[in-house]
Amino acid sequence: MEITYNAAIPNTFGLSVKADCIVRFSTDSELASVIAMVRNGALKQPLLCLGEGSNMMFDGDFKGSVLVSLIKGTEVVEETADYIVLRVGSGYGWNDFTAYCASKGYFGVENLSGIPGTVGAAAVQNIGAYGAEAGNLIDSVETVDLETGSAKIFSVQECGYAYRDSVFKKPSFKKYLVTYVRFRLSKVEHYALEYGRLAEAVGKDGELSLGTVRKAVIGIRNSKLPDPSEVGSAGSFFKNPIVSAEVYASLALSYPDMPHYPAPSGDGVKLSAAWLIERCGWKGRSLGKAAVWGKQPLVIVNTGGASASDIMNISAAVVNSVFEKFGIRLEKEVQFVGDNG
Ligand code: EPU
Repeated sequence: MEITYNAAIPNTFGLSVKADCIVRFSTDSELASVIAMVRNGALKQPLLCLGEGSNMMFDGDFKGSVLVSLIKGTEVVEETADYIVLRVGSGYGWNDFTAYCASKGYFGVENLSGIPGTVGAAAVQNIGAYGAEAGNLIDSVETVDLETGSAKIFSVQECGYAYRDSVFKKPSFKKYLVTYVRFRLSKVEHYALEYGRLAEAVGKDGELSLGTVRKAVIGIRNSKLPDPSEVGSAGSFFKNPIVSAEVYASLALSYPDMPHYPAPSGDGVKLSAAWLIERCGWKGRSLGKAAVWGKQPLVIVNTGGASASDIMNISAAVVNSVFEKFGIRLEKEVQFVGDNG
């Protein structure tokens, strides 16, 4: 276990933010010690469970303790000829996990290759890309209640998965720290290549395999999204908005070329936030030390030394422009940690 005080909070936005205390633990017994410290008041409250900070926005220092799981490893819980249930540590890097599954011949997570962050964060955020969503592959989520110290397993139904959402994002569920995620993955060869350019991108490599799908997905991501090791961002800053059929019909009269998709819930129409933002002239534009990414306008980037207010200012300006032009209020996809000082 490692405890650091007045320490920099890891975040892919490249923001200089600190926490009073950051605790990293790698095993169940270290976690038990962390919980004992929480319960005897040795760790300053409030608590924040964090993975790699790849989907987070901080608008100030965090005046409490950040808990980071480094629990790794995979364990087979159940296996048949057709499927496998794997129990995976919440601190396992998500992309490493997708590579592991490809090497073992487990199908399901390959379209989610290349997404930054950890397995635990993937289960909280219900990460999604190229037609796949983590929530559809999860069997259950193991947690510990930081208030009582007792373990609680959430069935996939109890996780309440929806587009980039789960119960773990609700304030009253923040007390549950994810320890392990159980995935149910297929051993029967099948691929989902219907999304956009994926089939075409895989086709270039000839043979169809988990390896070529992974390569194609990572290639498309790299062509659109900033490399987190070079440019700070939190991936998509906004969610794609879902509007009623009536709202879409009236917008389509003025914008017949507006991209639209059936909403995943089956209710309403999903619009492209990237398209709306681009139509407002924000693609590639900067404000202060932040900018709207030129290759994918739903990503806000740190152009160098941005503060939280630089990010907030450009985000507010984008939201206002889209609202004025289209009457649609974009919602943030990133999770916010407010200034609680
Ligand atoms: N588009 C534009 N201009 C652009 C880019 C895109 O108008 O410069 C429009 C196009 O109409 C395109 C549509 O946006 O058809 C969709 O673009 P893309 O395939 O890049 O997907 P997205 O809807 O913008 C979502 C996720 C991404 C995920 C991709 C691929 C959200 C908020 N974002 O983006 O997730 O990688 O689909 O499945 O749902 C993330 O969550 O951080 C993330 C990057």
